[in-house]
Amino acid sequence: MSKRIVAGNWKMNLTAEEAVNLFKEIEERLSFSEVDVKVFVPSIYLQSLTGLSEKITIGAQNFYPVSKGAFTGEISPIQLRSIGINTVLIGHSERRDLFGENDDFIQSKVKSALENGMDIILCCGESLETRDAGNEVKFVTGQLSSALSIVESASMKNITIAYEPIWAIGTGKTSSSQQAEDMHLAIRNWLDSKYGPTVAGSTSILYGGSCNAANAKELFACPNVDGGLIGGASLDAETFLTIISSF
Ligand code: PGA
Repeated sequence: MSKRIVAGNWKMNLTAEEAVNLFKEIEERLSFSEVDVKVFVPSIYLQSLTGLSEKITIGAQNFYPVSKGAFTGEISPIQLRSIGINTVLIGHSERRDLFGENDDFIQSKVKSALENGMDIILCCGESLETRDAGNEVKFVTGQLSSALSIVESASMKNITIAYEPIWAIGTGKTSSSQQAEDMHLAIRNWLDSKYGPTVAGSTSILYGGSCNAANAKELFACPNVDGGLIGGASLDAETFLTIISSF
């Protein structure tokens, strides 16, 4: 059985005070449940928020896939581990599009994170042009095929997939639940063909892209949607908690 997961991606939002207040409110009001809750916070808040966290896993939005050295401005997986962070986001379309992270680089991040014993949420998703051309499944499974090319079955327990159609991210335009289910099923079938039914059945596949308090219930009711990766709607405690309770 795949785990139910709701993860917030705060991106480059919130001052230090706002971040602590939001985090405390979510942590205090969250009841222990079947849902695994994670929050990917800006790197400067990782250490302080980890100290406050009992029910929520704090994850890093980014890292550089080398242990140490002359990489000004970057953070290594070893440094993340040294402050208690062992969950990372990889392959987000904003990293791909705005910061030039290509498939090879994403593959090296996956390798590095696994070598350092980290859990990964691996993002994939197509542009509107790709969908309009009817190539979305080929494109998304191609991204996964590249990112996971060196990943063995045994390591798949550390990997969660997030399907995030680029045209739905931050646009208010959500994919319909049918579009999400179709893609999630295609991803699960792809996992089955690469790793077999056990891995396919136990890998969580999250939906991301304008998921909010109003549409989460319908999306999470899809048989192959195991939860969500939530951007804008994770910045408000009430909304985020409503999404978490939408299963
Ligand atoms: P959004 O972002 O919920 O604001 O669309 C999702 C994401 O980019 O992870």
